[in-house]
Amino acid sequence: MRNKKRNLITVAIDSPAAAGAGTQAKLISKHYNLFYLDTGKIYRYIGLLKLNNKKVFSYQLIERKINKIKISDLKNKKLLSNDVAISASKIAKNKKIRDIVHRFQQLCAYSPPKKFNGSVLDGRDIITVQMKDAMFKFYITANLSVRAKRRFDEYKSLKKKITYKEVLKSLKNRDNSDKNRKYGPLKKTKDSVLINTSKLSKKACFKRIRAVMDKKLNY
Ligand code: C5P
Repeated sequence: MRNKKRNLITVAIDSPAAAGAGTQAKLISKHYNLFYLDTGKIYRYIGLLKLNNKKVFSYQLIERKINKIKISDLKNKKLLSNDVAISASKIAKNKKIRDIVHRFQQLCAYSPPKKFNGSVLDGRDIITVQMKDAMFKFYITANLSVRAKRRFDEYKSLKKKITYKEVLKSLKNRDNSDKNRKYGPLKKTKDSVLINTSKLSKKACFKRIRAVMDKKLNY
């Protein structure tokens, strides 16, 4: 049942921004001892690279940076700003950039460090492109206003100066761009489990995920 190469447990999650996928992916990773990659952070990393290197931004630069990227680079607090999110969503439309990111994601998904039982990745094209053969596929979503409120609260706790209206507009624009772009658009596949977190607590959401996973894993 597990991945042929190393008997891995593989979990793929797609979701629009601020739907709670990251929180659930972290809970999954902890509970099942899986390597976790928040793939949005890689696009944010490149988005920030673009904002900081307008004149010298090139595929070579991206490739060089991604080739030596460390998980700790993705923990940079600067990646959490709204400007970086917008920049990420713009560069994420580019096929060449998606191909560069794809190679790194494949390594994380199918060759995670030995101490892990497998991997869990979340993003926009994880089920549709990156891990089509994942053992578990979840599409996590929530109403736009709920997501905007959650993201607004996160920004507030990070002391970012932004209004609720700006957050709402930014999420709406990103949803539009991420769902309608040519390469790796966000969409729900028939074979994925839909979870709407609008009225679900983190705990209740994770309970649903565990029910699906434990059944198949015979835990
Ligand atoms: O998930 P997060 O909001 O951090 O992602 C930032 C942006 O990166 C998204 O709006 C999307 O355009 C892009 N992204 C993507 N494919 C992924 C993950 C993120 O295109 N797998």
